[in-house]
Amino acid sequence: MRTKIVAGNWKMNKTSAEAKALTSEVISLHGAEVKSPTKVILCVPFPFLQQSKEQTANTPVAVGAQNCSEHESGAYTGEVSAAMLKSLGIPYVILGHSERRQYFQESGAQLARKVDRALAHQLIPIFCCGEPLEIREQGTHEALVRKQVAEGLFHLAPEAISGIIIAYEPVWAIGTGKTATTQQAQDMHAVIRKELAGKYGNVVSEKIPILYGGSVKPDNARELFSCPDVDGGLVGGASLKARDFVDIIKGA
Ligand code: PGA
Repeated sequence: MRTKIVAGNWKMNKTSAEAKALTSEVISLHGAEVKSPTKVILCVPFPFLQQSKEQTANTPVAVGAQNCSEHESGAYTGEVSAAMLKSLGIPYVILGHSERRQYFQESGAQLARKVDRALAHQLIPIFCCGEPLEIREQGTHEALVRKQVAEGLFHLAPEAISGIIIAYEPVWAIGTGKTATTQQAQDMHAVIRKELAGKYGNVVSEKIPILYGGSVKPDNARELFSCPDVDGGLVGGASLKARDFVDIIKGA
């Protein structure tokens, strides 16, 4: 059995004071109401990592970043390295979110290098994949997602990929209020797991958590997370409200 994981992706939201308040509200609601061993991760903007990390010390809530550089260090103004995240004690980093792929032209090859940098510093990548609406409508969504997974991850050795988290996020469901049906989610998660099994074998593929993302809400979380291959969620909008986020965790 894979442990369920619920990760919040705050994206580019909140001020320092708001981030502090949200983190502490999540910690207190979680502490009072959640008894399950579901892993909880808050992926906060870079400037708030240290603060959220300190607030969550000695709690079951972990902190992650939303991106890192594909370079080790050097003259890359404005970038943040995996080594920097590691030095703050941050264990997780989202890589290849569709907003990064779309607005910052992150390519499969670049993401493979980011994955390598993260793993070199013992960070756990939350590697995102997912198709835009037009690809879904063309019916080539499975092929695209298989390609994204292969490009970003299939250079890894079995021991390395075993430590990764994958998030399937159909782009048409992100921030739109339009969630994939449980069947659509389960079908794609099964495709991803089969692809992993084809490359690495069943033992490895059964270990890898695959999260669903795209308009996860308190009222659809339980049903989505009950699918056999859906191991939790990557939550955007609803992670900005502690009440909703903790209700989603309770659905896992
Ligand atoms: P959403 O975002 O929950 O607001 O749809 C999910 C994500 O982009 O990670």
